[in-house]
Amino acid sequence: MVAAKWRKFVSDTTVHGLRYVFESPSRFRRLIWLLLLLGAIAIDIYLLRESVQKYFSKPFNTEFTEVVPENGEVSFPAVTICNLNRFVKRKINMFENDEDFHKMGLNLSACEVVNKVNKSMSCGQGLLCAFEQFGWALAENCNENIRQQIITALNRTKEPIFNPEEFIGNFGHDFAEMFLHYCRFPVSQNCTSADFHQTLTKNGRCFTFNSGKNGTKVRGTKRAGVSGGLSVILDAQAYENTVSEFSRGLRVVVHDPGAIVNLDKGFNVFPGSHTLARINAIKRERLPYPYKSDCTRRVLPKIPRYSRDGCFIQCKANVTLKRCGCREIGVQVPSNSPVCTFQHEFCVEQSEESHNPFNCSCDIPCEETEYLSQVSYSQFPDDGASKVLKYMHAYNKSIKHQRENLVFLQVGFQRHGYTLMKESPSYKIGSLMGDIGGNMGLFLGCSLLTLFEFVDLAWNILEYQANKKKSVSQEKMGNEAV
Ligand SMILES: *[C@@H]1O[C@H](CO)[C@@H](O)[C@H](O)[C@H]1NC(C)=O
Ligand SMILES: *[C@@H]1O[C@H](CO)[C@@H](O)[C@H](O)[C@H]1NC(C)=O
Ligand SMILES: *[C@@H]1O[C@H](CO)[C@@H](O)[C@H](O)[C@H]1NC(C)=O
Ligand SMILES: *[C@@H]1O[C@H](CO)[C@@H](O)[C@H](O)[C@H]1NC(C)=O
Ligand SMILES: *[C@@H]1O[C@H](CO)[C@@H](O)[C@H](O)[C@H]1NC(C)=O
Ligand SMILES: *[C@@H]1O[C@H](CO)[C@@H](O)[C@H](O)[C@H]1NC(C)=O
Ligand SMILES: *[C@@H]1O[C@H](CO)[C@@H](O)[C@H](O)[C@H]1NC(C)=O
Ligand SMILES: *[C@@H]1O[C@H](CO)[C@@H](O)[C@H](O)[C@H]1NC(C)=O
Repeated sequence: MVAAKWRKFVSDTTVHGLRYVFESPSRFRRLIWLLLLLGAIAIDIYLLRESVQKYFSKPFNTEFTEVVPENGEVSFPAVTICNLNRFVKRKINMFENDEDFHKMGLNLSACEVVNKVNKSMSCGQGLLCAFEQFGWALAENCNENIRQQIITALNRTKEPIFNPEEFIGNFGHDFAEMFLHYCRFPVSQNCTSADFHQTLTKNGRCFTFNSGKNGTKVRGTKRAGVSGGLSVILDAQAYENTVSEFSRGLRVVVHDPGAIVNLDKGFNVFPGSHTLARINAIKRERLPYPYKSDCTRRVLPKIPRYSRDGCFIQCKANVTLKRCGCREIGVQVPSNSPVCTFQHEFCVEQSEESHNPFNCSCDIPCEETEYLSQVSYSQFPDDGASKVLKYMHAYNKSIKHQRENLVFLQVGFQRHGYTLMKESPSYKIGSLMGDIGGNMGLFLGCSLLTLFEFVDLAWNILEYQANKKKSVSQEKMGNEAV
Protein backbone atom coordinates (compact mmCIF):
# COMPACT_ATOMS: atom_id res chain seq x y z
CA MET A 1 0.00 0.00 0.00
CA VAL A 2 2.83 2.41 0.89
CA ALA A 3 4.48 1.44 -2.36
CA ALA A 4 1.32 2.39 -4.25
CA LYS A 5 1.21 5.78 -2.57
CA TRP A 6 4.84 6.36 -3.40
CA ARG A 7 4.30 5.40 -7.03
CA LYS A 8 1.39 7.81 -7.29
CA PHE A 9 3.47 10.54 -5.67
CA VAL A 10 6.37 9.97 -8.02
CA SER A 11 4.22 10.30 -11.11
CA ASP A 12 2.50 13.45 -9.79
CA THR A 13 5.35 15.37 -8.18
CA THR A 14 6.85 18.47 -9.75
CA VAL A 15 10.40 17.24 -9.14
CA HIS A 16 10.94 16.30 -12.75
CA GLY A 17 13.70 13.72 -12.50
CA LEU A 18 12.03 11.56 -9.88
CA ARG A 19 9.48 10.05 -12.23
CA TYR A 20 12.12 8.71 -14.64
CA VAL A 21 14.22 7.30 -11.84
CA PHE A 22 11.35 5.07 -10.82
CA GLU A 23 9.31 4.69 -13.93
CA SER A 24 11.77 4.27 -16.80
CA PRO A 25 11.46 0.78 -18.24
CA SER A 26 15.19 0.22 -18.71
CA ARG A 27 17.43 -0.20 -15.70
CA PHE A 28 20.27 1.64 -17.45
CA ARG A 29 18.15 4.69 -18.08
CA ARG A 30 16.94 4.62 -14.49
CA LEU A 31 20.54 4.65 -13.33
CA ILE A 32 21.39 7.63 -15.56
CA TRP A 33 18.37 9.51 -14.26
CA LEU A 34 19.32 8.71 -10.69
CA LEU A 35 22.83 10.08 -11.22
CA LEU A 36 21.45 13.21 -12.87
CA LEU A 37 19.02 13.76 -10.02
CA LEU A 38 21.65 13.28 -7.32
CA GLY A 39 24.03 15.61 -9.17
CA ALA A 40 21.37 18.29 -9.43
CA ILE A 41 20.57 17.96 -5.72
CA ALA A 42 24.26 18.27 -4.83
CA ILE A 43 24.72 21.40 -6.92
CA ASP A 44 21.56 22.88 -5.53
CA ILE A 45 22.63 22.31 -1.94
CA TYR A 46 26.03 23.80 -2.69
CA LEU A 47 24.48 26.94 -4.18
CA LEU A 48 21.98 27.17 -1.36
CA ARG A 49 24.83 27.18 1.11
CA GLU A 50 26.59 29.93 -0.86
CA SER A 51 23.48 32.08 -0.91
CA VAL A 52 22.83 31.67 2.78
CA GLN A 53 26.45 32.44 3.59
CA LYS A 54 26.33 35.53 1.42
CA TYR A 55 23.16 36.65 3.15
CA PHE A 56 24.65 36.28 6.60
CA SER A 57 27.86 38.07 5.66
CA LYS A 58 25.59 41.14 5.28
CA PRO A 59 27.06 42.71 2.17
CA PHE A 60 26.24 46.33 1.36
CA ASN A 61 26.73 48.88 -1.38
CA THR A 62 27.94 52.44 -0.99
CA GLU A 63 26.23 54.87 -3.30
CA PHE A 64 27.55 58.31 -4.13
CA THR A 65 25.01 60.90 -5.14
CA GLU A 66 25.07 64.64 -5.51
CA VAL A 67 22.18 66.03 -3.54
CA VAL A 68 20.49 69.41 -3.55
CA PRO A 69 17.64 69.51 -1.03
CA GLU A 70 14.20 70.11 -2.48
CA ASN A 71 13.80 73.63 -1.14
CA GLY A 72 17.25 74.47 -2.50
CA GLU A 73 18.61 75.29 0.94
CA VAL A 74 21.75 73.44 1.99
CA SER A 75 22.40 73.59 5.73
CA PHE A 76 25.52 75.54 6.51
CA PRO A 77 28.22 74.20 8.84
CA ALA A 78 29.29 75.78 12.09
CA VAL A 79 32.43 77.91 11.80
CA THR A 80 34.49 78.14 14.97
CA ILE A 81 37.11 80.87 15.21
CA CYS A 82 39.74 80.88 17.94
CA ASN A 83 42.46 83.40 18.54
CA LEU A 84 45.73 81.49 18.66
CA ASN A 85 46.75 83.81 21.46
CA ARG A 86 45.38 82.68 24.77
CA PHE A 87 45.64 85.68 27.11
CA VAL A 88 45.20 89.36 26.31
CA LYS A 89 48.31 91.30 27.25
CA ARG A 90 46.36 94.33 28.45
CA LYS A 91 44.34 92.15 30.84
CA ILE A 92 47.38 90.28 32.08
CA ASN A 93 49.19 93.49 32.92
CA MET A 94 46.20 95.23 34.48
CA PHE A 95 46.38 96.02 38.17
CA GLU A 96 43.57 95.90 40.64
CA ASN A 97 43.42 99.67 41.02
CA ASP A 98 42.45 100.01 37.34
CA GLU A 99 38.76 100.74 37.04
CA ASP A 100 38.37 98.22 34.19
CA PHE A 101 39.80 95.42 36.29
CA HIS A 102 36.54 94.53 37.98
CA LYS A 103 34.37 95.38 34.98
CA MET A 104 36.26 92.85 32.87
CA GLY A 105 35.78 90.18 35.51
CA LEU A 106 39.46 89.85 36.28
CA ASN A 107 39.02 89.71 40.06
CA LEU A 108 39.35 85.95 40.43
CA SER A 109 39.53 84.45 43.89
CA ALA A 110 43.11 83.38 43.20
CA CYS A 111 44.12 87.05 42.87
CA GLU A 112 44.32 87.43 46.64
CA VAL A 113 46.87 84.64 46.83
CA VAL A 114 49.02 86.26 44.12
CA ASN A 115 48.80 89.54 46.00
CA LYS A 116 50.11 87.94 49.15
CA VAL A 117 53.14 86.49 47.39
CA ASN A 118 54.27 89.68 45.71
CA LYS A 119 52.44 93.00 45.63
CA SER A 120 54.38 94.36 42.67
CA MET A 121 52.72 91.82 40.37
CA SER A 122 49.34 92.09 38.74
CA CYS A 123 46.94 89.22 39.26
CA GLY A 124 47.22 88.19 35.61
CA GLN A 125 51.00 88.18 35.69
CA GLY A 126 51.01 86.00 38.78
CA LEU A 127 48.53 83.51 37.38
CA LEU A 128 50.21 83.38 33.96
CA CYS A 129 53.50 82.86 35.74
CA ALA A 130 52.16 79.91 37.69
CA PHE A 131 49.83 78.40 35.11
CA GLU A 132 51.98 78.24 31.99
CA GLN A 133 54.84 75.82 31.74
CA PHE A 134 57.35 78.57 30.96
CA GLY A 135 55.42 81.20 32.89
CA TRP A 136 58.54 82.71 34.47
CA ALA A 137 59.74 83.64 30.99
CA LEU A 138 56.37 84.95 29.80
CA ALA A 139 55.06 87.11 32.61
CA GLU A 140 56.59 90.37 33.69
CA ASN A 141 57.90 90.58 37.25
CA CYS A 142 58.06 86.83 37.40
CA ASN A 143 60.95 84.49 38.05
CA GLU A 144 61.27 80.83 38.88
CA ASN A 145 61.32 81.48 42.57
CA ILE A 146 58.14 83.53 42.51
CA ARG A 147 56.49 80.98 40.25
CA GLN A 148 57.18 78.25 42.76
CA GLN A 149 55.91 80.42 45.61
CA ILE A 150 52.62 81.11 43.85
CA ILE A 151 52.12 77.47 42.93
CA THR A 152 52.77 76.40 46.49
CA ALA A 153 50.39 79.02 47.81
CA LEU A 154 47.65 78.01 45.38
CA ASN A 155 48.25 74.34 46.12
CA ARG A 156 48.05 74.77 49.89
CA THR A 157 44.32 74.43 50.28
CA LYS A 158 42.54 71.16 49.77
CA GLU A 159 39.67 72.78 47.84
CA PRO A 160 41.23 74.51 44.82
CA ILE A 161 40.87 78.29 44.81
CA PHE A 162 42.25 78.62 41.29
CA ASN A 163 39.89 77.77 38.43
CA PRO A 164 41.84 77.52 35.14
CA GLU A 165 38.62 77.72 33.11
CA GLU A 166 37.83 81.08 34.65
CA PHE A 167 41.38 82.27 34.02
CA ILE A 168 41.38 81.18 30.38
CA GLY A 169 37.88 82.52 29.85
CA ASN A 170 38.15 85.91 31.53
CA PHE A 171 41.68 86.75 30.43
CA GLY A 172 41.08 85.67 26.83
CA HIS A 173 40.00 87.76 23.85
CA ASP A 174 36.56 89.35 23.86
CA PHE A 175 34.65 88.83 20.69
CA ALA A 176 33.30 92.36 20.79
CA GLU A 177 36.87 93.64 20.46
CA MET A 178 37.73 91.30 17.62
CA PHE A 179 34.54 92.04 15.72
CA LEU A 180 34.77 94.94 13.29
CA HIS A 181 31.07 95.16 12.43
CA TYR A 182 31.48 93.72 8.99
CA CYS A 183 29.67 90.41 8.88
CA ARG A 184 27.53 89.05 6.08
CA PHE A 185 25.62 85.82 5.74
CA PRO A 186 24.90 85.54 2.88
CA VAL A 187 26.39 88.62 1.24
CA SER A 188 23.01 90.36 1.08
CA GLN A 189 22.34 90.08 4.83
CA ASN A 190 24.03 91.41 7.95
CA CYS A 191 25.05 89.23 10.83
CA THR A 192 26.07 90.49 14.26
CA SER A 193 28.40 89.52 17.04
CA ALA A 194 25.41 87.88 18.75
CA ASP A 195 25.54 85.21 16.03
CA PHE A 196 28.85 84.02 17.45
CA HIS A 197 28.56 81.90 20.57
CA GLN A 198 31.44 81.37 22.92
CA THR A 199 32.96 77.90 23.20
CA LEU A 200 35.66 77.28 25.75
CA THR A 201 38.44 74.91 24.75
CA LYS A 202 41.68 74.00 26.45
CA ASN A 203 43.42 76.46 24.13
CA GLY A 204 41.25 79.35 25.15
CA ARG A 205 38.12 81.10 24.06
CA CYS A 206 36.63 80.33 20.69
CA PHE A 207 33.61 81.78 18.96
CA THR A 208 31.25 79.74 16.85
CA PHE A 209 29.06 81.02 14.07
CA ASN A 210 25.93 78.94 13.40
CA SER A 211 26.52 76.81 16.48
CA GLY A 212 22.88 75.78 16.79
CA LYS A 213 23.29 76.46 20.52
CA ASN A 214 20.62 78.02 22.71
CA GLY A 215 17.93 76.71 20.39
CA THR A 216 19.01 78.90 17.51
CA LYS A 217 18.14 77.56 14.11
CA VAL A 218 20.95 76.13 12.00
CA ARG A 219 21.20 78.33 8.95
CA GLY A 220 21.11 77.22 5.36
CA THR A 221 22.30 78.76 2.16
CA LYS A 222 20.79 78.80 -1.29
CA ARG A 223 23.94 79.68 -3.19
CA ALA A 224 27.39 78.24 -3.68
CA GLY A 225 30.53 80.34 -3.41
CA VAL A 226 31.42 83.09 -0.99
CA SER A 227 28.36 85.10 -1.97
CA GLY A 228 26.22 82.43 -0.32
CA GLY A 229 28.45 81.93 2.70
CA LEU A 230 29.94 83.76 5.64
CA SER A 231 32.10 86.87 5.23
CA VAL A 232 33.52 88.50 8.31
CA ILE A 233 36.32 90.94 9.12
CA LEU A 234 38.04 90.28 12.42
CA ASP A 235 40.79 91.94 14.39
CA ALA A 236 43.22 89.24 15.46
CA GLN A 237 44.66 91.72 18.00
CA ALA A 238 48.19 90.57 17.39
CA TYR A 239 49.43 93.46 19.56
CA GLU A 240 47.83 91.72 22.56
CA ASN A 241 49.86 88.53 22.17
CA THR A 242 51.21 86.86 25.27
CA VAL A 243 51.41 83.15 24.64
CA SER A 244 50.03 80.91 21.91
CA GLU A 245 51.00 77.81 20.03
CA PHE A 246 54.00 79.43 18.35
CA SER A 247 52.24 81.89 16.05
CA ARG A 248 49.93 84.85 15.65
CA GLY A 249 46.57 84.68 14.00
CA LEU A 250 43.38 82.68 14.14
CA ARG A 251 42.43 79.03 14.00
CA VAL A 252 39.30 78.25 12.02
CA VAL A 253 37.42 74.96 12.27
CA VAL A 254 34.47 74.09 10.03
CA HIS A 255 32.34 71.38 11.62
CA ASP A 256 28.88 69.94 12.21
CA PRO A 257 26.75 72.28 14.35
CA GLY A 258 26.49 70.89 17.87
CA ALA A 259 29.50 68.59 17.61
CA ILE A 260 32.47 69.11 19.88
CA VAL A 261 35.16 71.33 18.34
CA ASN A 262 38.33 69.45 17.52
CA LEU A 263 41.00 72.14 17.10
CA ASP A 264 43.31 69.69 15.38
CA LYS A 265 41.00 69.65 12.37
CA GLY A 266 41.10 73.34 11.55
CA PHE A 267 43.34 75.60 9.52
CA ASN A 268 45.35 78.63 10.62
CA VAL A 269 44.89 82.14 9.29
CA PHE A 270 47.53 84.84 9.58
CA PRO A 271 46.83 88.50 10.39
CA GLY A 272 46.77 90.66 7.29
CA SER A 273 45.17 87.99 5.13
CA HIS A 274 42.06 87.62 3.07
CA THR A 275 41.28 83.96 3.65
CA LEU A 276 38.98 82.12 1.32
CA ALA A 277 37.81 78.72 2.48
CA ARG A 278 35.81 76.75 -0.04
CA ILE A 279 34.17 73.75 1.49
CA ASN A 280 32.84 70.47 0.21
CA ALA A 281 30.24 68.75 2.34
CA ILE A 282 30.14 64.97 2.42
CA LYS A 283 27.22 63.46 4.24
CA ARG A 284 27.64 59.84 5.26
CA GLU A 285 24.85 57.46 6.15
CA ARG A 286 26.09 54.16 7.48
CA LEU A 287 24.50 50.87 8.52
CA PRO A 288 24.51 49.60 12.12
CA TYR A 289 25.48 46.12 13.30
CA PRO A 290 25.36 43.38 11.86
CA TYR A 291 26.75 45.30 8.88
CA LYS A 292 30.48 45.81 8.88
CA SER A 293 30.33 49.60 9.35
CA ASP A 294 28.93 48.90 12.83
CA CYS A 295 27.90 52.52 13.32
CA THR A 296 26.31 53.93 16.44
CA ARG A 297 23.41 56.21 17.26
CA ARG A 298 24.83 56.96 20.68
CA VAL A 299 24.07 60.19 22.49
CA LEU A 300 26.76 61.81 24.61
CA PRO A 301 25.67 63.68 27.72
CA LYS A 302 25.96 67.47 27.37
CA ILE A 303 27.12 67.29 23.75
CA PRO A 304 24.25 67.87 21.31
CA ARG A 305 25.76 65.95 18.41
CA TYR A 306 27.73 62.74 18.54
CA SER A 307 31.02 62.60 16.70
CA ARG A 308 33.91 60.22 17.04
CA ASP A 309 36.33 62.97 18.07
CA GLY A 310 33.87 64.23 20.66
CA CYS A 311 33.49 60.73 22.04
CA PHE A 312 37.26 60.22 22.39
CA ILE A 313 37.68 63.62 24.04
CA GLN A 314 34.86 63.01 26.47
CA CYS A 315 35.99 59.46 27.16
CA LYS A 316 39.45 60.68 28.16
CA ALA A 317 37.87 63.36 30.34
CA ASN A 318 35.67 60.67 31.89
CA VAL A 319 38.73 58.66 32.85
CA THR A 320 40.42 61.71 34.36
CA LEU A 321 37.24 62.55 36.24
CA LYS A 322 37.04 59.05 37.64
CA ARG A 323 40.68 58.83 38.66
CA CYS A 324 41.36 62.37 39.82
CA GLY A 325 37.94 63.78 40.64
CA CYS A 326 38.34 66.81 38.42
CA ARG A 327 37.01 68.07 35.10
CA GLU A 328 39.39 68.63 32.20
CA ILE A 329 39.45 72.20 30.91
CA GLY A 330 36.81 72.91 28.30
CA VAL A 331 35.38 69.38 28.07
CA GLN A 332 31.72 68.72 28.80
CA VAL A 333 31.26 65.89 31.27
CA PRO A 334 28.19 65.22 33.38
CA SER A 335 29.64 66.37 36.70
CA ASN A 336 30.02 69.45 38.87
CA SER A 337 33.50 68.56 40.07
CA PRO A 338 36.11 71.33 40.15
CA VAL A 339 38.30 71.97 37.13
CA CYS A 340 41.66 70.21 37.17
CA THR A 341 44.36 72.43 38.63
CA PHE A 342 47.59 72.24 40.60
CA GLN A 343 46.09 69.94 43.21
CA HIS A 344 45.42 67.33 40.53
CA GLU A 345 48.53 67.84 38.44
CA PHE A 346 50.31 64.61 39.30
CA CYS A 347 47.20 62.48 38.99
CA VAL A 348 46.19 64.04 35.65
CA GLU A 349 49.63 63.40 34.18
CA GLN A 350 49.49 59.77 35.24
CA SER A 351 46.00 59.38 33.91
CA GLU A 352 47.00 60.82 30.56
CA GLU A 353 49.97 58.52 30.30
CA SER A 354 48.02 55.39 31.04
CA HIS A 355 44.95 56.35 29.04
CA ASN A 356 44.16 53.86 26.32
CA PRO A 357 41.80 55.17 23.63
CA PHE A 358 41.00 51.64 22.50
CA ASN A 359 39.09 51.26 25.73
CA CYS A 360 36.64 53.95 24.71
CA SER A 361 34.44 52.04 22.27
CA CYS A 362 33.79 55.17 20.25
CA ASP A 363 32.15 53.84 17.10
CA ILE A 364 31.59 55.87 13.98
CA PRO A 365 28.22 57.63 13.86
CA CYS A 366 25.47 56.40 11.55
CA GLU A 367 25.01 59.89 10.23
CA GLU A 368 27.60 62.57 9.98
CA THR A 369 28.65 65.36 7.70
CA GLU A 370 32.26 65.98 6.97
CA TYR A 371 33.51 69.30 5.65
CA LEU A 372 36.66 69.42 3.58
CA SER A 373 38.09 72.89 3.13
CA GLN A 374 40.31 74.29 0.41
CA VAL A 375 41.93 77.44 1.69
CA SER A 376 43.64 80.23 -0.21
CA TYR A 377 45.10 83.51 0.97
CA SER A 378 45.87 87.00 -0.29
CA GLN A 379 46.99 90.13 1.49
CA PHE A 380 44.39 92.20 3.28
CA PRO A 381 43.50 95.00 3.22
CA ASP A 382 44.43 96.66 -0.05
CA ASP A 383 44.52 100.46 -0.13
CA GLY A 384 40.89 100.71 -1.11
CA ALA A 385 39.58 98.41 1.60
CA SER A 386 41.76 100.19 4.12
CA LYS A 387 40.16 103.52 3.26
CA VAL A 388 36.66 102.05 3.29
CA LEU A 389 37.33 100.58 6.71
CA LYS A 390 38.43 103.98 7.96
CA TYR A 391 35.45 105.71 6.48
CA MET A 392 32.65 103.21 7.04
CA HIS A 393 33.66 101.59 10.24
CA ALA A 394 35.51 104.38 12.01
CA TYR A 395 38.54 102.11 12.14
CA ASN A 396 41.11 104.81 11.65
CA LYS A 397 44.31 102.84 12.24
CA SER A 398 47.19 103.05 9.75
CA ILE A 399 47.29 100.54 6.90
CA LYS A 400 50.38 99.01 8.49
CA HIS A 401 48.50 98.38 11.70
CA GLN A 402 45.61 96.95 9.71
CA ARG A 403 47.90 94.59 7.82
CA GLU A 404 49.39 93.36 11.07
CA ASN A 405 46.07 92.60 12.68
CA LEU A 406 43.05 92.23 10.43
CA VAL A 407 41.67 89.09 8.88
CA PHE A 408 39.01 88.94 6.20
CA LEU A 409 37.52 85.46 6.39
CA GLN A 410 35.16 84.06 3.78
CA VAL A 411 33.69 80.59 4.00
CA GLY A 412 31.40 79.21 1.31
CA PHE A 413 30.39 76.03 -0.44
CA GLN A 414 32.34 75.05 -3.50
CA ARG A 415 29.26 73.51 -5.08
CA HIS A 416 25.62 74.00 -4.30
CA GLY A 417 24.61 70.83 -2.49
CA TYR A 418 26.47 68.00 -0.87
CA THR A 419 27.76 64.54 -1.69
CA LEU A 420 25.72 61.81 -0.10
CA MET A 421 27.54 58.57 0.62
CA LYS A 422 24.87 56.14 1.55
CA GLU A 423 25.28 52.52 2.48
CA SER A 424 22.41 50.20 1.70
CA PRO A 425 22.06 46.43 2.08
CA SER A 426 22.86 44.79 -1.25
CA TYR A 427 21.50 41.31 -0.47
CA LYS A 428 18.26 41.32 1.41
CA ILE A 429 15.96 38.43 2.35
CA GLY A 430 14.05 38.89 -0.91
CA SER A 431 17.18 38.36 -2.99
CA LEU A 432 18.06 35.31 -0.92
CA MET A 433 14.63 33.79 -1.57
CA GLY A 434 14.94 34.64 -5.24
CA ASP A 435 18.29 32.88 -5.51
CA ILE A 436 17.13 29.80 -3.66
CA GLY A 437 13.97 29.62 -5.75
CA GLY A 438 15.86 30.18 -8.98
CA ASN A 439 18.37 27.45 -8.24
CA MET A 440 15.73 24.99 -7.15
CA GLY A 441 13.77 25.72 -10.30
CA LEU A 442 16.80 25.47 -12.57
CA PHE A 443 18.24 22.26 -11.14
CA LEU A 444 15.26 20.37 -9.78
CA GLY A 445 12.33 22.02 -11.46
CA CYS A 446 10.58 22.39 -8.15
CA SER A 447 9.45 25.23 -5.94
CA LEU A 448 8.82 25.84 -2.28
CA LEU A 449 5.46 24.12 -2.53
CA THR A 450 7.21 20.95 -3.71
CA LEU A 451 8.65 20.65 -0.23
CA PHE A 452 5.08 20.54 1.01
CA GLU A 453 4.35 17.76 -1.44
CA PHE A 454 6.93 15.69 0.43
CA VAL A 455 5.51 16.73 3.75
CA ASP A 456 2.08 15.79 2.51
CA LEU A 457 3.33 12.36 1.41
CA ALA A 458 4.99 11.74 4.73
CA TRP A 459 1.84 12.73 6.54
CA ASN A 460 -0.20 10.46 4.34
CA ILE A 461 2.01 7.47 5.00
CA LEU A 462 2.16 8.06 8.73
CA GLU A 463 -1.58 8.36 8.90
CA TYR A 464 -1.94 5.13 6.93
CA GLN A 465 0.50 3.28 9.17
CA ALA A 466 -1.24 4.48 12.30
CA ASN A 467 -4.59 3.33 10.97
CA LYS A 468 -3.14 -0.03 10.05
CA LYS A 469 -1.69 -0.54 13.53
CA LYS A 470 -4.98 0.40 15.08
CA SER A 471 -6.93 -2.02 12.99
CA VAL A 472 -4.35 -4.76 13.61
CA SER A 473 -4.48 -4.27 17.35
CA GLN A 474 -8.27 -4.15 17.22
CA GLU A 475 -8.21 -7.41 15.35
CA LYS A 476 -5.94 -8.90 17.99
CA MET A 477 -8.13 -7.70 20.78
CA GLY A 478 -11.12 -9.14 18.95
CA ASN A 479 -9.35 -12.55 18.66
CA GLU A 480 -8.40 -12.61 22.35
CA ALA A 481 -11.90 -11.77 23.39
CA VAL A 482 -13.28 -14.63 21.48
C1 LIG B 1 37.75 90.77 44.53
O1 LIG B 1 37.71 89.42 45.00
C2 LIG B 1 37.98 89.25 46.35
C3 LIG B 1 37.98 87.78 46.66
O2 LIG B 1 37.05 87.11 45.92
C4 LIG B 1 36.96 90.01 47.21
O3 LIG B 1 37.30 89.89 48.58
C5 LIG B 1 36.97 91.47 46.78
O4 LIG B 1 35.95 92.16 47.48
C6 LIG B 1 36.74 91.59 45.27
N1 LIG B 1 36.86 92.99 44.91
C7 LIG B 1 35.85 93.64 44.34
C8 LIG B 1 36.08 95.10 44.10
O5 LIG B 1 34.81 93.10 44.04
C1 LIG C 1 58.30 91.21 44.01
O1 LIG C 1 58.90 91.03 42.71
C2 LIG C 1 59.72 92.08 42.31
C3 LIG C 1 60.14 91.82 40.88
O2 LIG C 1 60.46 90.48 40.67
C4 LIG C 1 60.92 92.16 43.28
O3 LIG C 1 61.75 93.23 42.90
C5 LIG C 1 60.38 92.37 44.67
O4 LIG C 1 61.44 92.31 45.59
C6 LIG C 1 59.39 91.28 45.05
N1 LIG C 1 58.79 91.60 46.35
C7 LIG C 1 58.63 90.69 47.31
C8 LIG C 1 57.97 91.13 48.56
O5 LIG C 1 59.02 89.55 47.15
C1 LIG D 1 23.79 96.18 7.26
O1 LIG D 1 24.21 97.08 8.26
C2 LIG D 1 24.66 98.33 7.78
C3 LIG D 1 25.10 99.15 8.95
O2 LIG D 1 25.84 98.42 9.84
C4 LIG D 1 23.51 99.02 7.04
O3 LIG D 1 23.98 100.24 6.51
C5 LIG D 1 23.03 98.11 5.94
O4 LIG D 1 21.89 98.70 5.33
C6 LIG D 1 22.64 96.76 6.49
N1 LIG D 1 22.31 95.90 5.40
C7 LIG D 1 21.26 95.07 5.44
C8 LIG D 1 21.02 94.25 4.23
O5 LIG D 1 20.56 94.96 6.43
C1 LIG E 1 21.67 81.47 25.87
O1 LIG E 1 20.47 81.94 26.47
C2 LIG E 1 20.63 82.36 27.79
C3 LIG E 1 19.27 82.80 28.32
O2 LIG E 1 18.27 82.51 27.44
C4 LIG E 1 21.63 83.52 27.87
O3 LIG E 1 21.81 83.89 29.21
C5 LIG E 1 22.95 83.06 27.27
O4 LIG E 1 23.86 84.14 27.23
C6 LIG E 1 22.74 82.55 25.88
N1 LIG E 1 23.99 82.01 25.40
C7 LIG E 1 24.52 82.36 24.25
C8 LIG E 1 25.79 81.70 23.89
O5 LIG E 1 23.99 83.19 23.53
C1 LIG F 1 31.20 59.65 30.24
O1 LIG F 1 30.54 59.34 31.44
C2 LIG F 1 29.13 59.49 31.39
C3 LIG F 1 28.55 59.24 32.78
O2 LIG F 1 29.33 58.44 33.52
C4 LIG F 1 28.54 58.54 30.36
O3 LIG F 1 27.15 58.72 30.30
C5 LIG F 1 29.17 58.85 29.03
O4 LIG F 1 28.69 57.96 28.06
C6 LIG F 1 30.68 58.78 29.10
N1 LIG F 1 31.21 59.23 27.83
C7 LIG F 1 32.03 58.49 27.09
C8 LIG F 1 32.49 59.07 25.81
O5 LIG F 1 32.43 57.40 27.43
C1 LIG G 1 50.09 70.01 45.04
O1 LIG G 1 50.05 69.24 46.21
C2 LIG G 1 49.91 67.84 46.01
C3 LIG G 1 49.86 67.18 47.36
O2 LIG G 1 49.03 67.90 48.22
C4 LIG G 1 51.06 67.31 45.20
O3 LIG G 1 50.85 65.94 44.91
C5 LIG G 1 51.13 68.06 43.89
O4 LIG G 1 52.25 67.63 43.15
C6 LIG G 1 51.24 69.53 44.14
N1 LIG G 1 51.21 70.24 42.87
C7 LIG G 1 52.19 71.03 42.47
C8 LIG G 1 52.02 71.65 41.14
O5 LIG G 1 53.18 71.24 43.14
C1 LIG H 1 40.86 49.26 29.75
O1 LIG H 1 41.94 48.44 29.35
C2 LIG H 1 42.64 47.84 30.40
C3 LIG H 1 43.76 47.03 29.81
O2 LIG H 1 44.44 47.77 28.85
C4 LIG H 1 41.69 46.96 31.22
O3 LIG H 1 42.38 46.44 32.33
C5 LIG H 1 40.51 47.79 31.70
O4 LIG H 1 39.58 46.98 32.37
C6 LIG H 1 39.83 48.47 30.55
N1 LIG H 1 38.79 49.34 31.05
C7 LIG H 1 37.57 49.35 30.52
C8 LIG H 1 36.60 50.31 31.13
O5 LIG H 1 37.25 48.65 29.61
C1 LIG I 1 41.12 107.97 15.26
O1 LIG I 1 39.87 108.39 15.80
C2 LIG I 1 39.96 108.77 17.16
C3 LIG I 1 38.56 109.12 17.62
O2 LIG I 1 37.62 108.46 16.92
C4 LIG I 1 40.91 109.95 17.31
O3 LIG I 1 41.00 110.27 18.68
C5 LIG I 1 42.27 109.57 16.77
O4 LIG I 1 43.12 110.69 16.77
C6 LIG I 1 42.14 109.07 15.32
N1 LIG I 1 43.43 108.58 14.86
C7 LIG I 1 43.88 108.79 13.65
C8 LIG I 1 45.22 108.21 13.30
O5 LIG I 1 43.26 109.44 12.82
